[in-house]
Amino acid sequence: MIGSPLYAGILDRAAADVEGRGPIWKVLRGHEDDPRFSVLGLRLLGALNRMALSGEAPRLTAAYEQGDVGAAWEALQATVATRAEELRRLVEAPVQTNEVGRCAGLLFGFLAVAGETGLPLRLLEVGASAGLNLHWDRFAYAADGFSWGPADSALRLEFELEGTAPVLPSAVTIAERRGCDPNPIDAATPEGRLALLSYIWPDQRQRITRMEAAASVAAGVPVNVEREGAATWSERMLAEPTTGRATVVYHSIVSQYLSDEERATFFANVESAGARATVKAPLAWLRMEPRDDRADLRLTTWPGGEERLLARVGYHGTPVELLSG
Ligand SMILES: C[S@@+](CC[C@H](N)C(=O)[O-])C[C@H]1O[C@@H](n2cnc3c(N)ncnc32)[C@H](O)[C@@H]1O
Repeated sequence: MIGSPLYAGILDRAAADVEGRGPIWKVLRGHEDDPRFSVLGLRLLGALNRMALSGEAPRLTAAYEQGDVGAAWEALQATVATRAEELRRLVEAPVQTNEVGRCAGLLFGFLAVAGETGLPLRLLEVGASAGLNLHWDRFAYAADGFSWGPADSALRLEFELEGTAPVLPSAVTIAERRGCDPNPIDAATPEGRLALLSYIWPDQRQRITRMEAAASVAAGVPVNVEREGAATWSERMLAEPTTGRATVVYHSIVSQYLSDEERATFFANVESAGARATVKAPLAWLRMEPRDDRADLRLTTWPGGEERLLARVGYHGTPVELLSG
């Protein structure tokens, strides 16, 4: 479990309950064949955290606030005993986060495109969730010896930087911000906020604060996240080259959620748009997708189709290990 002693302790106990066919097994029964990446355990904990955050499970709220695994486990069992049916319904929902920390890695790709093309950026985010990462240029970034972005931003992303940052543009112009997601979340609504926060592990206070700060930055400039999948949306968005703008198609931790067919169609759409790109209407494909204990940050640019491994990035945006100088 990445940095959550609370959830690690609870999941150990929950696994023993499931082995022993206990009350948690009764909630999860029927999901035995769910794909591993659908992270059933985290879906259950997200459902319970939703109840804790909304005040429906006050003992759990208090135990989570204290970060006490023993007390949380007892409160969780009590909640499972009384709310099993509702939990069985809630556990159907996929884990859906919007991790703005990832912008610390993506930043270096966006700035590379802006610096190399000298053009305003047309941002197209696939799997944008609540669209918070479409506001990456409105966040402040800080690492040892490195800073970027508006210093007065409500969101300051602090991260570990390994390697030396290249010379980067100090400002960029964003011509357009658009995204797609089969289940867009509106972070401006109480329900949207609850959905996003429920999947953040309760002892990860920094991520919670970050999400709230990002939502406040985003509230000033709403973006259009269309309810659509990667394949059809990318086909529509990339139908025509856009002169005078550098189009950046990007995604972070999305690829694994696409069916093989949708992923192949989406990738083919990007590559055929790349073949039509010109110096005046360039295309970039930036993606931060899992490899091992870190994600790879890759950038392909057209015309030309040159692919670079720019960085290796922690799943929540730190550290950022720059590879291409
Ligand atoms: C782990 S979340 C990552 C969200 C965001 N990219 C981030 O880094 O915070 C994966 C996202 O992929 C979206 N997704 C799932 N299937 C998709 C599809 N077929 N096309 C586009 N996005 C999809 C999910 O709804 C979810 O918002």
